[in-house]
Amino acid sequence: MTAKIARKRHYLLCRPHHFAVEYAINPWMDASADVDTARAVSQWETLVGTLRRLGHTVDTLDPEPGLPDMVYAANGAFSVDGVVYGARFRYPQRQAEAAAHEKWYRATGWRFAPPTETNEGEGDFAYVPGPGLVLAGYGYRTDPRGHAEAAEALSRPVISLKLVDDRFYHLDTALTVLDDETIAYYPGAFSTGSQTILRRLFPGALLADEADAVAFGLNSVSDDHHVVLNSEAAGMAEKLAARGYTPVPVDLSELKRGGGSVKCCIAELRAAA
Ligand code: ARG
Repeated sequence: MTAKIARKRHYLLCRPHHFAVEYAINPWMDASADVDTARAVSQWETLVGTLRRLGHTVDTLDPEPGLPDMVYAANGAFSVDGVVYGARFRYPQRQAEAAAHEKWYRATGWRFAPPTETNEGEGDFAYVPGPGLVLAGYGYRTDPRGHAEAAEALSRPVISLKLVDDRFYHLDTALTVLDDETIAYYPGAFSTGSQTILRRLFPGALLADEADAVAFGLNSVSDDHHVVLNSEAAGMAEKLAARGYTPVPVDLSELKRGGGSVKCCIAELRAAA
């Protein structure tokens, strides 16, 4: 087992100031249940503090009223090598979030590629730096035409993976990139063909089970050494530790009620090399 060396990252998050569950667009959301917004904010603050303590740079997007899901900043865009492919949300309730992200990226000097196809940013796109591959989910949110559009905008090959279990409606609920070459995923979230693709491309992947995935153990963020993940995902934390990673559990139970956890709250900003 080789020693893991952390690499500094740059992240974009959005405080859950207006967080609520007012509609249900994934099976985790129950619009009739009360959400504790103050608790969501304090859990989110712990997440931000954890990322900063690990040495990462955290920028924030201003939360907007009427956009209760804006805390899930991963969905707003997907960046690789200084280029940002913008999002176009599937459901009308979230569509206005895209403009807020676009404005932020343009104001901070990123090269912004506007989308014409439906895609939910880093929720459905992941980047594997070693082979320079983009992994992309479809089946619930992102349109496969968005995969082709991303390949063109980012000049990277995109591997399309079909999601088949609606509890794992975004790629980032079922698969995570641990370092330049290594991914972890829950096979049951993918179609048979996509499982075979993943086995072929990543024979050394860490395989998660259903319990890990349901605890949002794959909705994690790694700096090649530390893996920040939902504290309910104790089994996943053990598997990561056995592979030489250092799991860093954070309680995001309130944000799980919107159907998201650590990764959903974080957009990674990948500047030009
Ligand atoms: N309520 C949000 C939705 O259903 C949750 C988004 C979670 N984000 C993620 N990257 N998986 O759209």
